[in-house]
Amino acid sequence: EKGGYETFMLKEIYEQSDVVAETLADRTLREDGVDLDDEGALDESILANVDRIVIVACGTSFNAGLIGRYAIEEWARVPVEMDVASEYRYRNPILGPRDLVIGITQSGETADTLAAMRLARERGANVLAITNVMGSQATRDADGVLFTRAGLEVSVAATKTFVCQVAVLYLLALRLAELRGALPREELVRLTGEVRRLPHMIRELLDSMDVEEIAQQHHAGEFFLYLGRHAGRAVALEGALKLKEISYIATDAYAAGEMKHGPIALLDEQTPVICIATDSPILDKMISNMQEVRARGAHVIGVASEGNVEIGEHCESVIRVPQTDWMLQPLLAVIPLQLLAYRIARLRGLNVDQPRNLAKTVTVE
Ligand code: M6R
Repeated sequence: EKGGYETFMLKEIYEQSDVVAETLADRTLREDGVDLDDEGALDESILANVDRIVIVACGTSFNAGLIGRYAIEEWARVPVEMDVASEYRYRNPILGPRDLVIGITQSGETADTLAAMRLARERGANVLAITNVMGSQATRDADGVLFTRAGLEVSVAATKTFVCQVAVLYLLALRLAELRGALPREELVRLTGEVRRLPHMIRELLDSMDVEEIAQQHHAGEFFLYLGRHAGRAVALEGALKLKEISYIATDAYAAGEMKHGPIALLDEQTPVICIATDSPILDKMISNMQEVRARGAHVIGVASEGNVEIGEHCESVIRVPQTDWMLQPLLAVIPLQLLAYRIARLRGLNVDQPRNLAKTVTVE
């Protein structure tokens, strides 16, 4: 069942190119945009007319949503609000018929996410579910569904379902942009082409990524800090979540600009600091943060695009991801961080598929 891999998690990490290809397949046949007219999908007039999107989810699905938020705002220019479902459901949320609430849940059975979606429906909002499981409760609690096509995920730590969620959110962002005329046609064509290339880029990354030296050097560490800005912050959150849940190492993930407001006090010569330094209009701000980390003597491990030749000057080690549009790089950047968490957990002799205290599906709040 593990297809020759030592664990389900490792198998699922290496399946990511294929499952993203499956998720994109018929939705990216057109050159100048994407099609989301799957059976059970939301009526497109809703997408064309929403005033605001609210994303609710838990754990890794929340982190996927956070990347989606930036893509939707950047490409479709629709304001997006987000909260973890366990908070949102108790916020007495202000919602109406021109709001679209997107519940992201791999299993389709997470109690808090379902409760938030039901509440949104009661308040008259439109509800879209993004889930991996056909027939799951989320599909019944929504007005429309977009499926990820990751296949069954066995490992408690979500990996392949995360990249598929992000891929679906990119598709949704592009479709919204097209319906609302928010992007010029040539930009739609270019971005659609880049999205279509994702499976190939993931394959390239899976075949070449090597985090062994970093894992060997830091697996006995007591604390890891992850920093990122913009969608890189979501990468930081997800990298930190993966490491803590399977290796039991304390981690923190911060918007890099917040570092000076507290977490910088945690840094010493031992601390590995994973800095998401993929391309973005504010990469220079991220580099300043990396310099500040270095000045405290901590270990800067950068995650950057292959095209960025200078980044090595600011890091002790660099993890490379393929060059593509900057908004798509966060999806790629998570993948080596999944493997890094995996290798560190293995070096610590842990059972990565079944981490302590965690359940694959959280059906109680
Ligand atoms: O099935 P869901 O996507 O709703 O699950 C949400 C979280 O419980 C899940 O992502 C959790 O954080 C994973 N263990 C992360 O690896």
